[in-house]
Amino acid sequence: MKILLLGCNGQVGWELQRSLAVLGQVVALGRDSTVLCGDLANPEGIAATVRAVAPDVIVNAAAHTAVDQAEREVELARLLNATTPGVLAREAHALNALLVHYSTDYVFDGSGNAPRAEDAATAPLSVYGQTKLEGEQLIQASGCKHLIFRTSWVYAARGDNFAKTMLRLAQEREQLNVINDQFGAPTGADLLADVTAHAIRHVAQHPEHLGLYHCVAGGETTWHAYAEFVIATARQLRPELAFKVQAINAVPTSAFPTPAKRPYNSRLSTCKLQATLALHLPHWQQGVRRMLQEIL
Ligand SMILES: NC(=O)c1ccc[n+]([C@@H]2O[C@H](COP(=O)([O-])OP(=O)(O)OC[C@H]3O[C@@H](n4cnc5c(N)ncnc54)[C@H](OP(=O)(O)O)[C@@H]3O)[C@@H](O)[C@H]2O)c1
Repeated sequence: MKILLLGCNGQVGWELQRSLAVLGQVVALGRDSTVLCGDLANPEGIAATVRAVAPDVIVNAAAHTAVDQAEREVELARLLNATTPGVLAREAHALNALLVHYSTDYVFDGSGNAPRAEDAATAPLSVYGQTKLEGEQLIQASGCKHLIFRTSWVYAARGDNFAKTMLRLAQEREQLNVINDQFGAPTGADLLADVTAHAIRHVAQHPEHLGLYHCVAGGETTWHAYAEFVIATARQLRPELAFKVQAINAVPTSAFPTPAKRPYNSRLSTCKLQATLALHLPHWQQGVRRMLQEIL
């Protein structure tokens, strides 16, 4: 099996380089790749890459993920999150290749407090969410074989993330203010990458299971409870580290105004994925604890 991986240096892309390696030959490209174009801002270059590689599977882990920046870079966000994924879908269809793509809980408006299923009504609050939704729709309309995984609150041992920021701030400040009215599940890039590899194998045998899935770790939390867990676990794992923090204060979203609106309810139901692909999604604390063990 030949796999073309785009966005290979992002959180998920990096973990995919590991998880896809056992499936076959992986051609892994980042934005700055030279021999073949890996820049999603160049849709014709990306189309030429697909034709040159002629993969069995295309995995697109690249995206415009800077949610606040996207509010003032609408055209670039649309190009990376929608137009070029649409081109990938067109090229995948021409080759009869499978396209794997990632989307987000930000396609929803975050109302209510129940986990949303895949067929729940979408209503993005931000340019990022809107353009990610348009990407989903272009892929679905193309007729190509596809798997789309909507996920949330992604972290990885490599690169910057919320947990690392909390660890740094906890060593610098006595008081931390963290949002406690947004609900979701921190999801490891390693978990997403492993699910992706299993799903690629699964749909090769069960093409009737292609389509859109919600893929997040088990359980739910708030950013505030997530921060408390990270700092308590770090204290347990590395008691010698000097944490200055005395109080982790719970504050509402309104305490941190941002250009892009975030959904309050980012809970995604994973019943479809677990039942259809016969996979177990471990509790978010398991993956976060493991990441802390790796980075501390
Ligand atoms: N992060 C989250 O919390 C989250 C939540 C829900 C869904 N998702 C989705 O999950 C997927 C993976 O996200 P992630 O967390 O791995 O994001 P990430 O760490 O920000 O990685 C995104 C990657 O896209 C690359 N990229 C940006 N512009 C590009 C361009 N013009 N051409 C090629 N590559 C470009 C970046 O390259 P550089 O390294 O060169 O910048 C980076 O490697 C995305 O589809 C995202 O929308 C993420």
